[in-house]
Amino acid sequence: MKRLTPLEGYDLYAGNYRKDHPHLDSFMDGAESEAWYRALEVLLAERPHIMAHDAGCGDGRTLGRWARGIEKRGLLDRVTLWGTDFSPKMVSAARGRIKGCHWGVLDFGTPEKAAAWAKVNGKADLVSAYFVVVHFDRPERFFRCMAALMVPGGKLVMNTIPQPKVPELWASGKPITIEAWDHSPEEMVFCGEEAGFTLERRQDFSFQNEVISTLLEWTLSDPDPS
Ligand SMILES: C[S@@+](CC[C@H](N)C(=O)[O-])C[C@H]1O[C@@H](n2cnc3c(N)ncnc32)[C@H](O)[C@@H]1O
Repeated sequence: MKRLTPLEGYDLYAGNYRKDHPHLDSFMDGAESEAWYRALEVLLAERPHIMAHDAGCGDGRTLGRWARGIEKRGLLDRVTLWGTDFSPKMVSAARGRIKGCHWGVLDFGTPEKAAAWAKVNGKADLVSAYFVVVHFDRPERFFRCMAALMVPGGKLVMNTIPQPKVPELWASGKPITIEAWDHSPEEMVFCGEEAGFTLERRQDFSFQNEVISTLLEWTLSDPDPS
């Protein structure tokens, strides 16, 4: 079976991804959105306007819900939503079905690339990255990229999943696997703290007595709070 890089794999898988939303939803049963709204509420109490960036947004599985939620709550003038992903096909699937967001094709390969993107498009107050860090062989790079996208004092909500064996996926009529790496939650916490984040909350989700996902909610420290 073909083992693809995340970029090759997600471009191929983009057309089938929607069918897998219920499976991804089942990992945390809505807790990823609860974390996102929790962070948003804190930020809205502090700032007149929020830029929220869904990094590695895929086809907008969660971002679409948040875009509808922002409209329902009458927050369109206070919250700007961005979705970015390095797979052009994923971004175009998201763009095709979700209104009210800005979109970009962006590779979080290096912190320099993330910083250059943020210089042009603005730094985010809130960044979300669900089911993304598993595709980084070097998670310290992922955290440095997230920090480069954010303002100090901003919030990052994300999860990490164990991946002892990569799952088989069905894409464009054939089975594929996409490169992924098995990182422990402790390694994530270490890398996040090294990149300047403070862990505010951690929640483990289990199925049949095994942890299947760990939700992590962070604040980016201000290097110069004076
Ligand atoms: C499992 S999907 C998750 C999508 C979405 N966050 C969700 O929760 O449904 C992982 C996404 O991360 C993106 N991705 C992986 N590595 C990336 C990188 N280095 N830069 C940008 N996007 C990346 C993939 O293209 C894919 O769309």
